[in-house]
Amino acid sequence: MHSLLLLSSVLTVTTNAFPFVAEMQGVDSSLFRNPVKRQQSGGGQDGGPDTCPFNANHKPAAPVTSQYPYNNAKNGKPGNGKGGFQVPAAGDTAHQYTAPGPNDIRGPCPGLNAAANHNFLAHDGIVTFNELVDAQQNVYNVGYDLAVLLAALGLTLTDGDLVTEKLSIGCDATTRTSFSPILTGSEPGLDGHNKFESDASLTRNDYFPANGDNFRFNGTLFGYMQDTCQGNFDLNNLAEYRYQRYQQSLAENPNFYFGPLALLLYGAASFLYELMPNGNHGYAPDLETITTFFGAVNNGDGTWGHVPERIPDNWTNRKTPYTNNDVTTQILEMYLLRPVLFGGATADGGFDALPSFGAIKDGKISSTISGPNTACLLFQLATQSVPSYLNGILTPTLDALNFVTSKVAPQFKNLGCPSPLT
Ligand code: HEM
Ligand SMILES: *[C@@H]1O[C@H](CO)[C@@H](O)[C@H](O)[C@H]1NC(C)=O
Ligand SMILES: *[C@@H]1O[C@H](CO)[C@@H](O)[C@H](O)[C@H]1NC(C)=O
Repeated sequence: MHSLLLLSSVLTVTTNAFPFVAEMQGVDSSLFRNPVKRQQSGGGQDGGPDTCPFNANHKPAAPVTSQYPYNNAKNGKPGNGKGGFQVPAAGDTAHQYTAPGPNDIRGPCPGLNAAANHNFLAHDGIVTFNELVDAQQNVYNVGYDLAVLLAALGLTLTDGDLVTEKLSIGCDATTRTSFSPILTGSEPGLDGHNKFESDASLTRNDYFPANGDNFRFNGTLFGYMQDTCQGNFDLNNLAEYRYQRYQQSLAENPNFYFGPLALLLYGAASFLYELMPNGNHGYAPDLETITTFFGAVNNGDGTWGHVPERIPDNWTNRKTPYTNNDVTTQILEMYLLRPVLFGGATADGGFDALPSFGAIKDGKISSTISGPNTACLLFQLATQSVPSYLNGILTPTLDALNFVTSKVAPQFKNLGCPSPLT
């Protein structure tokens, strides 16, 4: 009901302009008013199954041990939540940097790419829910509540597999993530567009203007980020840079869409100054730290190249866990420094604001947001129908809701977030 109401007010745009929407997993195309042309899609497109690397020798993440316990997070359970330690620990050969090979999958997330390059996640990039929950705690000291929420969003939004609990951190590896490709259909992985991945990223292209390359590091964009931040990747500078990227997409991308899932982009931007800073550098979000995590290499001529992402040498992680409450505070602060309209570019060159989703009203988040709308900001993305394109709704399946109820809802119940299945 909720999604239908929302749709009727968004559907002022002709659907033919966005034929690809109906092709997206989880989009209920019966909601379209006009018959929708099918997109010419093949497995060979960038990020698709035909070009996705295949490593026949899948090795799970190297577990933490009693000798090198980190936060002692194992099997998807809460760890100690006490950071301020060096990662990888001196002498822990199992978690030293190992460059990815041509058969290993990497994707749009520098934080997960770096974790995989240090074997905190499976090195081939086919990871499990538990590995994601453990690695975020052991490496970055992400709080347990946020670690499970992000892992669940990764699995449910991008169609990881809810039976095997596996997810590709990049391209479509359905043959390895799915318990039954015939039953599940394709599982696009984190490269999947307008799911977790969105337009106006920090260092990744928008999907459509770049013919589907929304996941590779783009040195020009990294250069823009450095021009704006000048070696200080803090809240204020990233708010400014996120605003510039939004304006760039608005000007250059006729299919630009900035929906509720874009809230995750503000969260990811906060990771530069909350999760990446090095205790050995006084926790400054400085250029050396950020380039190492992003794999950015200064070519010395004003351009930036790319090498695999890694954890900086002698890196010491943050002391206190980075919780759901912390990230939500940063998302709202960064947004409110440079508020923009949520919505999308229309065929006639205009822009339609998104009417309402959770804290978003008339395309904006008000500075007076409070209560459960704040605490549950990200939880709602996992449990409600999310407008994922101008006229497309990503509706969680019953399986996805069951998954979230068993893994994530217990952490969020006492915040007053509605349980998805009651
Ligand atoms: C299960 C947990 C996680 C998942 C599923 C995930 C997934 C993603 C995805 C899909 C993107 C692309 C968003 C976009 O720009 O369109 C992204 C971006 C990003 N992620 Fe993660 N992420 C996770 C945890 C982390 C952690 C722990 C870090 C820690 C440093 C991190 C750092 C980043 C950064 C900095 C970006 C922005 C990259 C850019 O825009 O250039 N992520 N993540
Ligand atoms: C990198 O980003 C710039 C600026 O958006 C764009 O012009 C360029 O085509 C991108 N490069 C690649 C290789 O995608
Ligand atoms: C890391 O620590 C070791 C031992 O303290 C030291 O020899 C080395 O120079 C340090 N490296 C960096 C990049 O700080």
